[in-house]
Amino acid sequence: MPKTKFPPLVAGNWKMNGTLASLEEIDKLKEHLKNADPACDIMICPPFTLLFPMSERLGDSRIAMGGQDCHWEVSGAHTGDVAAEMIAETGAAACIVGHSERRADHGETDEIVSRKAAAAHRAGLVAIICIGETIEEREAGKTLDVISTQLKGSVPSGSDAANTIIAYEPVWAIGTGHTPTTEQVAEVHAHIRKELAGIVGAEEAEGMRILYGGSVKPANAAELMSVENVNGALVGGASLKADDFFGIIKAYM
Ligand code: PGA
Repeated sequence: MPKTKFPPLVAGNWKMNGTLASLEEIDKLKEHLKNADPACDIMICPPFTLLFPMSERLGDSRIAMGGQDCHWEVSGAHTGDVAAEMIAETGAAACIVGHSERRADHGETDEIVSRKAAAAHRAGLVAIICIGETIEEREAGKTLDVISTQLKGSVPSGSDAANTIIAYEPVWAIGTGHTPTTEQVAEVHAHIRKELAGIVGAEEAEGMRILYGGSVKPANAAELMSVENVNGALVGGASLKADDFFGIIKAYM
């Protein structure tokens, strides 16, 4: 089994959920982690409005923070957008780019995702680059081709195991309660690792973390996280409540 250079990562993507009151969940998560030492990194990616207050609330805890998206430019006339440098200033360590909801809701192409990932790198953030097939693509037997195309188009030059994480999220598994079989996850993750070698070089590809995302819950986390080449999880719905999220982190205890 390839040994990545970094511990597995369990990252929570709060999506468009959370107000100041939700920071209570951070306190609860910190409480859970007081007497636990899971063998993984832990991160929460809240909406932009919560980045600064969450950073303060996290204090010196082991929980890292990330943004959910960024613009590719440093500043300028882009109403409603947020630059990677602005996200970095909040204390964030990473930024998700290319989530399928952004690709679908905002028409983001691989080219745009690549520019956003490069912007995250420029700002000193780890880019968590999301890829994944739709149900139509899977049923047409195109999953591995789609993954190859997305990887080639979305991973910018300069990517390495330290500044980039790949998240495989089958679109049909996100928020649906449906998950791929462990065989399907293993097949795609092995394919990603192989394709990455051609993009970032064999050594960086070996060291790069590849997360699985899509309906990860406390009940299925241990099984999914035990699959070869799965180096952590990107968690949506089940990251909103500290009890559930900690239930997933327990896969690494
Ligand atoms: P989900 O979302 O865990 O709610 O399925 C995962 C994601 O979109 O990152």
